[in-house]
Amino acid sequence: MSTFPKNFLWGASSSAFQIEGAWDEDGKGKTVADYNSFKRSHLQADSKVASDFYHKWKEDIDLMSELGLNIYRFSISWARIIPDGDGIVNQKGIEFYNKVIDYLYEKNITPFITLYHFDLPYALVEKYNGWESRECAYAFEKYAKICFNEFGNRVKYWQVHNEQNLMMRVDERMNIEEEDKWKADKIRAQMDYHMFLAHALAVEACHQLVENGKIGPAVSSTCTYALTNKPQDVWAAKMNDWMKTNYCLDIHFTGEYPGYYMRYLKERNIVPIMHEEDKEHLKNGKMDYIAVNYYRTLCASYLPADEENPIGSRVFRGNQVDFDQYGYCRDEKNTNLEATEYGAQIDPMGLRIVLNEYHQRYRLPMIITENGLGAADVLTEDGKIHDQYRIDYLRAHIEACSLAIEDGVNLIGYSPWSVMDLLSSHQGFKKRYGLIYIDRDDFNEKNILRIKKDSFHWYQKVIKTNGEIV
Ligand code: BG6
Repeated sequence: MSTFPKNFLWGASSSAFQIEGAWDEDGKGKTVADYNSFKRSHLQADSKVASDFYHKWKEDIDLMSELGLNIYRFSISWARIIPDGDGIVNQKGIEFYNKVIDYLYEKNITPFITLYHFDLPYALVEKYNGWESRECAYAFEKYAKICFNEFGNRVKYWQVHNEQNLMMRVDERMNIEEEDKWKADKIRAQMDYHMFLAHALAVEACHQLVENGKIGPAVSSTCTYALTNKPQDVWAAKMNDWMKTNYCLDIHFTGEYPGYYMRYLKERNIVPIMHEEDKEHLKNGKMDYIAVNYYRTLCASYLPADEENPIGSRVFRGNQVDFDQYGYCRDEKNTNLEATEYGAQIDPMGLRIVLNEYHQRYRLPMIITENGLGAADVLTEDGKIHDQYRIDYLRAHIEACSLAIEDGVNLIGYSPWSVMDLLSSHQGFKKRYGLIYIDRDDFNEKNILRIKKDSFHWYQKVIKTNGEIV
């Protein structure tokens, strides 16, 4: 017998700039995601066409219906609704998402919408450096209210920011071009604060404007193991989780910055400017549920800050630059785990740990909105994609969800990344996550045909049997 409750939400996920294409069609404005993808157009596909969902949305929703999805998790492009971020509303943008939402309902698929998935309208960067300004939080509130008013009669599940906790550490996502590391971190801390304020304002607005609306953050979850059982290594691993993820959930939950995070901000002398009147909003703007994005686990050893490794320094591993290390820890390889061809350490048990951990801390409903395996899939001569490795990955993680439910976790749904192949941040269409193959490569769009992968057929059975056949 399946442990998944009867009304469990089986879904699949995507985000606007990674699938829609039509980057400047029907009045859409340029976004930070477009801007950065154009900078790499010579190396990989950019957001101009992506998976062409903007033109093929009907065919794609038909496929989602065939797959049997109960929910579809996607994002609205802010710059399609308000091209310059805080000015005039673009009716064509509203019309597009209305068509998508209505057709999803026609096919019995519930929309599960993210308001902001890495694609800040670029005009706001030109105007006041985006999230560095308080104005950006108010612009976001305005945009969120438009979405709630236009779509809230049908859409009840909302996510505010996708992975604020992760995007904050990636300069490109935040459009931080400051070379000086301390100054960059000061800007980052201020941006983070404004995003928390924007989150709270959006939660308040959703509760006012959307009848029975549920809203929360989508976090990039972390589960960090200590390299050894030395107390310092254990501390480093804990700090990694607290500083990279838990601080964010704690703020959404309590409305206050936790002590361990304030201590870091103070030590580094980068405490953001906070207004007294924000306190009430932060307190009121509590999340209703947590959307969890989970791909892998991490491993850390203790790395005290010193002259060679100052706080906020970056650790270089081969060609890869790791995130800021906050002066506590260093990323390590976990030799007990296999890794994907792109280096993500595969760990279904880690998902069970994460779900239990967040359940113990917050006692809120949770849904997994991203989980998946990026691989260079091959279209074989028989016109198929035999992605058994993806099935194995998803199966093991769904089993971990089932165990977590038995542990008492209130998990309401599972929505893997991604419904279809899409524009991956640094590997374009080389690295694929989809259940549906998009027949294009980075420099040849071909006809962008849709092909069902083996994982599509497998997931179809999982949904049909409510997780009994995994
Ligand atoms: C998540 C993002 O962090 O990771 C997605 O929300 C992203 O937008 C996914 O595509 C996979 O990352 P990447 O870099 O492999 O595309």
